[in-house]
Amino acid sequence: MAEHPLKRPLDSESQDEDRLQEILLRPRLLNEFQGQEAIKNNLTVFLQAARERGQALDHVFISGPPGLGKTTLAGIIAQELGVEFRVTSAPALDKPKDLAGILTTLPDRAVLFIDEIHRLKPAIEEMLYIAMEDYELDWVIGQGPAARTIRIPIPPFTLVGATTKPGKISSPLFTRFGIPLRLNYYSREEIENVLKRSASVMQIGLEEGARRLIASCSRGTPRVANRLLRRIRDFMQISHKKSIDEDVARKALSRLEIDPLGLDAQDRAILRNIITLFQGGPVGVETLAITVGEGADSLEDFYEPYLIQQGLLQRTPRGRVATRQAYIHVGLEGQWQDRNKGAPDDPQGHLF
Ligand SMILES: Nc1ncnc2c1ncn2[C@@H]1O[C@H](COP(=O)(O)OP(=O)(O)O)[C@@H](O)[C@H]1O
Ligand SMILES: [Mg+2]
Repeated sequence: MAEHPLKRPLDSESQDEDRLQEILLRPRLLNEFQGQEAIKNNLTVFLQAARERGQALDHVFISGPPGLGKTTLAGIIAQELGVEFRVTSAPALDKPKDLAGILTTLPDRAVLFIDEIHRLKPAIEEMLYIAMEDYELDWVIGQGPAARTIRIPIPPFTLVGATTKPGKISSPLFTRFGIPLRLNYYSREEIENVLKRSASVMQIGLEEGARRLIASCSRGTPRVANRLLRRIRDFMQISHKKSIDEDVARKALSRLEIDPLGLDAQDRAILRNIITLFQGGPVGVETLAITVGEGADSLEDFYEPYLIQQGLLQRTPRGRVATRQAYIHVGLEGQWQDRNKGAPDDPQGHLF
């Protein structure tokens, strides 16, 4: 999307510089990974036990919205186990031979990370079942009546599968993961710790007030926090300051059109379009996505979960609905009242 750089959607990883920075900021060890204490505590036990037994760690399934640390955590698992880390994604695996090629060349006990694991093709998924369970591959040789299947042993490995859509994974695949982990949005304090760490890696000063303010606008998402920090650093630099103080942060956030809830211009466009183009909804996600020039996937994965969590949007069987808070937030409360004349003060009132 060719746009003004400040308006680039915060979920996009497309920009090269951002991508590079993101890799530089990625924690490599579990104790550098902020927050998610329950997950870290359990993982510590599983990692230590696998190391002591000298065995491959059980397969790990990581779900959660974009930017919460799924890829980072997969890398940490490999690093903590002291094994090779191989990365691929379901859309990159077109034919069974693509997966076979990876599995047969994995070093012993390696971690294989498959991103977007809900998008595996059935034939590849079937191959994965046997690989996960028995560390073997079913391979068909020959064709027609002469075809036969041979089993090829592969080294023990740990599959780490990640997805933003846990509901879309098939249950036979899901049950083959011994360690399911679900990442949730981070608290403001946890995001403050992410920012503290990132500022120190980037060697920039970040004052407490600024840290708090940026954290409260980061929608509970480390990727968003880091991207805001990088953009705000630019504002700090051009205002010739030595560190990011609350004043710089506030001005930068306003220039970036980020509001106190952490919504950006696109979030507000989504809410405003539901209200002005579809009378508050319900409207189907595909239709809504078109009106804001966004893919339905990024609308569903990145924008909606946070809007829902903030009580601004509801998912109903008939489509997306703006809540009363949404009308208030985008300054269209008058339209809410027009719609609900005489109706009780109920956010669902206009559904009927
Ligand atoms: N718990 C965390 N502590 C510190 N930084 C984190 C944490 N989780 C994610 N990050 C940072 O956020 C960015 C996005 O994380 P990533 O693992 O790519 O998310 P996902 O794969 O879930 O989309 C990474 O650059 C990483 O530095
Ligand atoms: Mg990822």
